Amino acid sequence: MSVEPDRTWRDTPLIFERSRTGRRAGRPPIPDLPTPDVPESLRRARPPRLPELSEPEIVRHFTALADRTFGVDTGFYPLGSCTMKHNPRVNERLASLPGFRDLHPYQDDDGAQGALELMWRLQEMLAEIAGLPAVTLQPAAGSQGELTGLMLMRAYFADRGEDRDTIITADTAHGTNPASVTMAGFKLEKVETDARGNLDLEDLRAKVNDRTAGLMLTNPSTLGLFDEGIEAVAEIFHDAGALLYYDGANLNAVVGISRPGDMGFDIVHYNLHKTFSQPHGGGGPGGGPVAVRESIEPYLPAPTVVRDGDAFRLDHDRPKSIGRVRGFAGPFGVFVRSYAYMRAYGPGLKEMSEVAVLNANYVLARLRDVYDLPYDRHCMHEFVLSARNLKREHGITALDVAKRLMDYGIHPPTIYFPLVVPEALMIEPTETEPKERLDGFVDAMRRIAEEAAESPEVLKEAPHGRPVRRLDEVRAAKQPILRYLFDEHPVRVDAT
Ligand SMILES: Cc1ncc(COP(=O)(O)O)c(C=O)c1O
Repeated sequence: MSVEPDRTWRDTPLIFERSRTGRRAGRPPIPDLPTPDVPESLRRARPPRLPELSEPEIVRHFTALADRTFGVDTGFYPLGSCTMKHNPRVNERLASLPGFRDLHPYQDDDGAQGALELMWRLQEMLAEIAGLPAVTLQPAAGSQGELTGLMLMRAYFADRGEDRDTIITADTAHGTNPASVTMAGFKLEKVETDARGNLDLEDLRAKVNDRTAGLMLTNPSTLGLFDEGIEAVAEIFHDAGALLYYDGANLNAVVGISRPGDMGFDIVHYNLHKTFSQPHGGGGPGGGPVAVRESIEPYLPAPTVVRDGDAFRLDHDRPKSIGRVRGFAGPFGVFVRSYAYMRAYGPGLKEMSEVAVLNANYVLARLRDVYDLPYDRHCMHEFVLSARNLKREHGITALDVAKRLMDYGIHPPTIYFPLVVPEALMIEPTETEPKERLDGFVDAMRRIAEEAAESPEVLKEAPHGRPVRRLDEVRAAKQPILRYLFDEHPVRVDAT
């Protein structure tokens, strides 16, 4: 056995590379059962090639992989627009209470009263937060909420005999907005952002007409700015007979302070996995409920949860419904966590948003003299800086800054989005971070700006201390190698 420096952290072998023929983690007793008569045609020609390892080696392998993962439980994760905040652990306990966990979706309403009541109460709370009366819990993500909302618009106009085919989005819109518009069969029109970071009202007036079905807008926007002209925007659309859709991904900034329904929005989605705390990212479970005005309520997906006196039931009798958008009643475990989160805060829920906005403005105030600030205003729960000054002066890009942050043990912010800001760094600290973490982030960002001037090559080659350096991210996404190439790796029989 050769003795080499420990490279395991940087170079974790694949589980198949650790495999040695004949190794086992445990030997289950051979069952005393008759051998089933499997037809020859269905039998394997040879046994499957599985990794063969002892139990400690399996544990070490997966622990080594887990150690390489960075998450919100590992450190500061200011990924703008994604609201990566702490998920209270008690919510996990509640979601796995046997009465919730073991409930079958085909359970009769009589045997699921607790679950139905929780869903009904969650609908009521969400309706209050949006300032709109009716809610569907079905969509499983913000983007699915968007698609659902657009399908609701389509059903609404079809029922009124109106032929409208265009949806307007902001030029700062998240990529899912135009994608949902196209998927729902609408034409897309973009409206520009003005010099203060609001929707350009002139541009908007020129684009809204009797073909316009509606607007899809995030408020605060992806620039982290509350649209100062939102009432005028709502008037322009409503005067033209069109509807307003609120992309609630940034609701974390306004809960209990202002309500989309009061701003003039007719349809709203929530991202339960951002605002109301859920594990998310990397395909974690999500929730994208949608709230609507009375006039759109008949088209909501069926079934919805209704209350009859003291009893709760699923209402399938909805003749104008757009139908189901997800299996059963929606992502139930997500409902339990969000409900628990809201109940834990109670009427103080608005403190969540106040602290999110305070934290973001604190970090912004401490960084604005070293990075460019494209829209010089107070921000909401997030803000967008630009590294264009570092690029101009030292050739350092937003990507270099993001990669270097990893060497400081911090997850990079969102970069190059929104598209209207060159070299964008979109930073969302969230309300769950203490001041020391915010200061640590500020110090790292300020130090990186100094490094850009003193030793730009260090930034160009960052990260230096992570398991991998700079990857070809496009290739990794477009041509991922997810299959072990057995033909190129014959079985190893050396049992060292
Ligand atoms: C502004 C905005 N809108 C919509 C979405 C889509 O939400 P989801 O990821 O739940 O589909 C996101 C997600 O990051 C977002 O930031």
